[in-house]
Amino acid sequence: MSPLATLRSFGGKFSVTCQYCQSTTSYLPFSKLITIFISFSIIYILKQMDMEVDTVEIVDNPVAGPSKRPDEAAHNKKHCNLPWIEKYRPHTFEEIVGNEDTIERLSIFSKKGNVPNIIIAGPPGVGKTTTILCLAKILLGPSFKDAVLELNASNDRGIDIVRNKVKMFAQQKVTLPPGRHKMIILDEVDSMTDGAQQALRRTMEIYSNTTRFALACNYSEKVIEAIQSRCAILRYSKLTDSQVMARILQICEKENVKYTDSGIEAIVFTAQGDMRQALNNLQSTHNGFGEVNSGNVFKVCDEPHPMLIKDMLKSCMEGDIRKAYKVIEHLWNLGYAAEDIIKNIFKVCKNMDMEEGLKLDFIKEIGWTHQRIVDGLCTLIQMSGLLAKLCKAATGEGKF
Ligand SMILES: Nc1ncnc2c1ncn2[C@@H]1O[C@H](COP(=O)(O)OP(=O)(O)OP(=O)(O)O)[C@@H](O)[C@H]1O
Ligand SMILES: [Mg+2]
Repeated sequence: MSPLATLRSFGGKFSVTCQYCQSTTSYLPFSKLITIFISFSIIYILKQMDMEVDTVEIVDNPVAGPSKRPDEAAHNKKHCNLPWIEKYRPHTFEEIVGNEDTIERLSIFSKKGNVPNIIIAGPPGVGKTTTILCLAKILLGPSFKDAVLELNASNDRGIDIVRNKVKMFAQQKVTLPPGRHKMIILDEVDSMTDGAQQALRRTMEIYSNTTRFALACNYSEKVIEAIQSRCAILRYSKLTDSQVMARILQICEKENVKYTDSGIEAIVFTAQGDMRQALNNLQSTHNGFGEVNSGNVFKVCDEPHPMLIKDMLKSCMEGDIRKAYKVIEHLWNLGYAAEDIIKNIFKVCKNMDMEEGLKLDFIKEIGWTHQRIVDGLCTLIQMSGLLAKLCKAATGEGKF
């Protein structure tokens, strides 16, 4: 039908006449069409209203549990997938365990503001990153998002990033209350190249009236001296066994973990003052075996069982090399690496109940064997040699 078709009303019907062939096509009466159109509109509107009523019903229905409080459900869902190290990452200074003096000083800074540039140095998993994040959150509150730049080892932190990203952030204007400064967090700063660290030193000075730096590292000696001298250095030490145990028990309670006392002791033993390791081992054992007992913990951590090593050291103290050798051979056949075995011998020995002089002799010999293993001599003969020396030290038959 051409676009020039004429629309005429003829005998109460629609008719369209083609201007070329003059043929006329009749359609339904115009009034009928309007009636159909109106009916459809009414059906559509009713349908819409129906849908609205449905929606309201779902939201208002008091028995519809999960949909009633969507934020809580979302919050729980978000947290149930988190590893416990993140789920239980402290958000306030009070929650952080250990290193009380340093935490107290930082807590005072967080109230008064005007924090100096800081470096927190210490072993892994003791709360360095956590402390810095707490400090920044308390200091900057709602401005945290705009006033904090966080870079860690997973970001590229070469010299270009320092020249561009860090410098640009330091130049940005953010309105903050008096005594508050923008914060640049450089986590694992000891993994930054010397060049990048050098590029940082001037930036730290130039923007010191608006920006503060918080650095965290495992080895403060890997941070160049120029940066060390621009910062207050706070040193964290490993957490004590009782601190780790208290936190682990708290979390077991919150997560309804089934545990035995020896299981918790095993977690503390394997963690050696590293809270992250303790939480990871706890979660892995709970998820993998259900009950946290010592056997399950050592299976998860894949470490030689300390009871076996304790027995071995006792045999050495009695000068019984054959009995001691059986244990080391058993561990060797289980496939443990020489370094794992020697580290565990040291961990057990240092906590063993024995005469102090003899303990020192034992630790000295363990140290020499460890050095040889690190140098590449990881053989069963070396381990057996260690047992021979321990037996001799215990029975007093000659010194080395
Ligand atoms: N002192 C602590 N008190 C409570 N929880 C802790 C403490 N230290 C570590 N944790 C737990 O371990 C996790 C990791 O801690 P964090 O990232 O602060 O360690 P880190 O000292 O920065 O280690 P790394 O040197 O490996 O970066 C935290 O999320 C928290 O769950
Ligand atoms: Mg860290």
